[in-house]
Amino acid sequence: MATRRRPIIAPSILAADFAKLGEEARAVEAAGADWLHFDVMDGHFVPNITIGWDVLKAVKAHVSIPIDTHLMITPVDPYLEAFREAGADVITIHPEAGPHLDRSLRRIRELGAKAGVAFNPSTPPETIEWLLDDVDLVLVMSINPGFGGQSFMPSQLAKIARLRAMIEASGRDIVLEVDGGVTPETAARCREAGADALVAGTAVFRGGPNAYADNIRALREA
Ligand code: DX5
Ligand code: ZN
Repeated sequence: MATRRRPIIAPSILAADFAKLGEEARAVEAAGADWLHFDVMDGHFVPNITIGWDVLKAVKAHVSIPIDTHLMITPVDPYLEAFREAGADVITIHPEAGPHLDRSLRRIRELGAKAGVAFNPSTPPETIEWLLDDVDLVLVMSINPGFGGQSFMPSQLAKIARLRAMIEASGRDIVLEVDGGVTPETAARCREAGADALVAGTAVFRGGPNAYADNIRALREA
């Protein structure tokens, strides 16, 4: 399917005030966010530790938009069910996080969530070439995962374009999402390359709650 005309905007909770997550989640939903991006890190797959399923469950109670869960943890398989039970609507995993990507993706769908695959900057697009039937979303990391506030890597634009071509050729309804260093300027380049969902932490949460609506609009109109 072709690039969505209206991009999906998914604020990353990583840049929110962690002492008021419920309030922050409600504020971005009210400001026009389509999804809430929930970054889970284990200090092992990536050099940072964030939040787990109990926090997801608590935040879920505050919003009605889908929770777009990005698992940067290994092993990932033992935790899929817990995240789904806590309310994850999309569960995105990294191919490097387990021995059988195909099995993990099927498990996510069996649990009733949408299944996503995240690409580190070095992960080749061909990783999913033979698995497209099992994928609902692809997430191109335009930074090395682990921290918010990093600079966008232009080298990943060609990967976005390649994945867009693979999705078009497959005729499947797969969302193409970009995560890392997304600003109104880089968002425009991602959209040109074929992205239809934009994750943004810093660019949404900067300026505090009064700025969220304008920040989201700037990304949407990029
Ligand atoms: C980093 C996370 C991102 C991060 C993006 O590993 O996956 O979702 O929050 O933050 P910004 O938009 O600040 O680059
Ligand atoms: Zn993320």
